[in-house]
Amino acid sequence: MTDTRTIRIEAVRFNPETDQEPRRQSYDVPFTPDMSVLQGLQYIKDHLDGSLTFRWSCRMAVCGSCGMMINDTPKLSCETFLRDLYPGPVKVAPLDNFPIQRDLAIDQTGFLDKLAMIKPYIVAKQDKPLSEGTFRQTPAQLEAYYQYSQCINCLLCYAACPQFGLNDQFVGPAALSLLQRYNLDSRDVGWSVRADVANADIGVWECTVVGYCSEVCPKGVDPMHAINENKVNSALDYIGLKRLVGGR
Ligand code: SF4
Ligand code: FES
Repeated sequence: MTDTRTIRIEAVRFNPETDQEPRRQSYDVPFTPDMSVLQGLQYIKDHLDGSLTFRWSCRMAVCGSCGMMINDTPKLSCETFLRDLYPGPVKVAPLDNFPIQRDLAIDQTGFLDKLAMIKPYIVAKQDKPLSEGTFRQTPAQLEAYYQYSQCINCLLCYAACPQFGLNDQFVGPAALSLLQRYNLDSRDVGWSVRADVANADIGVWECTVVGYCSEVCPKGVDPMHAINENKVNSALDYIGLKRLVGGR
């Protein structure tokens, strides 16, 4: 026999083109123990209200597109289960600290600009032709940056960051983690082209080490650690020692 119960989902609704301010709309959703919050929202869209807007793609915590506030905490809706929130109600809202594009979907434009600022690609000392083969790394060289490479750009860390809430120009946790991901890569010599972003007022010094970013990250990335490492880099850069201690 299927174990089906009903739970109330209260979703934020907002169309910036027609609404003065966001409001909440409630839906009663039948669910089985294997259903995620995302599947609850899909049930609403398929059976109750086709106009509810939200983002998703992979449904397996890989694409990073389904992040939202669930009961006031930034989470991936595809890996948060309705059974764990029973008896509800379940409050779903767009990620804090971002403009709302429609309902639960945020405008990510500012983050994409920040991503471009930190030059999220390997800056090699010199290109080598394909005929010379790949750049090889030892397991230890891979380990140096591996955790930072796990970021899926879900932006939960920005919703958790009080400094980003105060100043949306702050480059922020995920972009600064990716900056460190490339700085720590043995194939990369890009500190000199990323230093301006790290050192800027909106760079690492804007962080006040609250650490909630690292707590909410669903992929085990530690943005606060990346930022702290780059505070050291930035200080060494300021006194002209970065190159002497391994700046590339
Ligand atoms: S650092 Fe973690 S929380 Fe932030 S965007 Fe990347 S995966 Fe998401
Ligand atoms: S749908 Fe891809 S991370 Fe949730």
